[in-house]
Amino acid sequence: MSEKVYDVPSEWAHKAYVDDAHYQSMYAASVKDPDAFWGEHGKRIDWFTPYTKVKNTSYDPGHVSIKWFEDGVTNVAYNCVDRHLETRGDQVAIIWEGDSPDESRNITYRELSSEVNKLANVLRNRGVEKGDRVTIYLPMIPEAAFAMLACARLGAIHSIVFGGFSPDSLAGRVADCGSKCIITADEGLRGGRKVPLKANVDAAIAQIPEGVDHVIVVRRTGGKVDMTPGRDVYYDEAAAMVTDECPAEHVNAEDPLFILYTSGSTGKPKGVLHTTGGYLVYASMTHQYIFDYHPGDIYWCTADVGWVTGHSYIVYGPLANGATTLMFEGIPNYPTVSRFWDVIDKHKVSIFYTAPTAIRSLMQAGEEPVKRTSRASLRLLGSVGEPINPEAWEWYYRVVGEERCPIVDTWWQTETGGILITPLPGATKLKPGSATRPFFGVMPEVVDAEGKVLEGACEGNLVIADSWPGQMRTVYGDHERFEQTYFSTYPGKYFTGDGCRRDADGFYWITGRVDDVINVSGHRMGTAEVESALVAHPKVSEAAVVGFPHDIKGQGIYAYVTLMDGEEPTEELRKELVAWVRREIGPIASPDLIQFAPGLPKTRSGKIMRRILRKIAEDQFESLGDTSTLADPGVVEDLIHNRQNKR
Ligand code: PRX
Repeated sequence: MSEKVYDVPSEWAHKAYVDDAHYQSMYAASVKDPDAFWGEHGKRIDWFTPYTKVKNTSYDPGHVSIKWFEDGVTNVAYNCVDRHLETRGDQVAIIWEGDSPDESRNITYRELSSEVNKLANVLRNRGVEKGDRVTIYLPMIPEAAFAMLACARLGAIHSIVFGGFSPDSLAGRVADCGSKCIITADEGLRGGRKVPLKANVDAAIAQIPEGVDHVIVVRRTGGKVDMTPGRDVYYDEAAAMVTDECPAEHVNAEDPLFILYTSGSTGKPKGVLHTTGGYLVYASMTHQYIFDYHPGDIYWCTADVGWVTGHSYIVYGPLANGATTLMFEGIPNYPTVSRFWDVIDKHKVSIFYTAPTAIRSLMQAGEEPVKRTSRASLRLLGSVGEPINPEAWEWYYRVVGEERCPIVDTWWQTETGGILITPLPGATKLKPGSATRPFFGVMPEVVDAEGKVLEGACEGNLVIADSWPGQMRTVYGDHERFEQTYFSTYPGKYFTGDGCRRDADGFYWITGRVDDVINVSGHRMGTAEVESALVAHPKVSEAAVVGFPHDIKGQGIYAYVTLMDGEEPTEELRKELVAWVRREIGPIASPDLIQFAPGLPKTRSGKIMRRILRKIAEDQFESLGDTSTLADPGVVEDLIHNRQNKR
């Protein structure tokens, strides 16, 4: 690993919100007295009823309970929209850049207010009330932000499902949280290709016995879709019937804001539940300090609102701060591989936040498509979603940022609500590949397998010793699973599922997941989910899925498949299985490699030895470890012999 160090440029130390000394003192204060620290910073949002209590959290086994600002009353939409109207009503809140470079739109805070209120009224007219769940299955169009804020305005709980998920995945998520209302579009548009969103919604609803009451359809492409009378309505038609005034519901700090489904090592995706007050305080504060956001900046996060990054750092953090946030409907290589840089020039983007997988794929196209553009407006770069390899970091720094823009490598998770480990651009020296140091109030620890806390430079598993305001509160409808997943491995601590190294400077280097979760292009995928999709195929008897190193995606999906007796392992079947998984889960779960295996390595008690499968997928045949407990050692020989070549 590279240990190159980039010092904080002196102009950054002067101009940014905090320099190193300031960071040290603020950090020390934040962990010494969280009540005082967050009691003060909680005031960064407006409260209808101010809180008198700040932190009330317990990680005690069997009694995990997390509450912040618990007697405060506020409203997230009020904070992201209404409170800005007096001072910056005519400032652009959202710059929307369409899939085609010919399409873009600026939405001021005043226009945003009108749109959010209208959509809230449309929902209210359909009986949506505080606490109700609303599923959002939209492409990256401004209506996605309007829909989130409209739910927040009513105190309804939104659950966004990424537009790349299949009808099956969507159905599971709608049913799990009992949504009675879905907001979707006729079709999505990505890289010039249409995505049949409304048709997917129809297919999903057909699988839900109790159905849903309302489907609101935004016209994006104008493509023809089936509309079920009484249930489905076009958004423009419904919006024409309502006013643009809808009062903001008074919402308790601990009332839910949203559910977001995410993959874990076992079982179905979990509904991660985030609440109102602490989440917004944390999202807005991290957005301001980590991106050094100042009024006048044009801020662009390239994520999709279907992931947590889109929630916290396209919509809630930036809008709570009165920022101008750019929403991009397209993909990095359409119509050309210069698209990101063209968009930066077109809208004079100053802060740019993207994922290592995008950087790696654009890096492959060489420097020319970047250098063809100016990028003079850029002053800060960010990275999120997976470890960034030092080569990609250096390229991002040198070619994209022209050695003038610090890079904030931000480590966090759907569960954490906001960034936990990251450089602050005016305070932290940078080491390519390291997420560096904890944000205010965050107490990371490195533990060994037995839970012993390691000191100084060390390597082990990453846990967080105490709560921060943006932390998830529970798994929707299953608090026991919440405790089991995050607090039982190392009792009394939040277990992140990540491995990590801490160097002699106290900098953290995230080494990747240590559980059965893989990270494909920055998207989290449970190996168990892909396995259950595979075994649902009539010709498959058994499947085991692991990750393997992939040049662009970070990790690829490697599936070992045992067929039913009498089935032939053909190339055609291989293709059929890939298509099957895409249909069951969505394109992001497509296996990159499928190896037909007559048998899988198992212990004598029948447990699949994934450690061995991982090593084979990684080409590390020499370090399979202890194989003495294998029921049939011959299986491993065969797997190695027939290992699929990387493509
Ligand atoms: O393994 C870590 C990796 O992504 C996981 C969280 O995935 P998800 O909940 O989908 O959220 C992604 C966006 C916040 C983590 O457990 N990860 C995320 N950011 C980084 C990272 N790994 C290394 N460095 C990062 N900056």
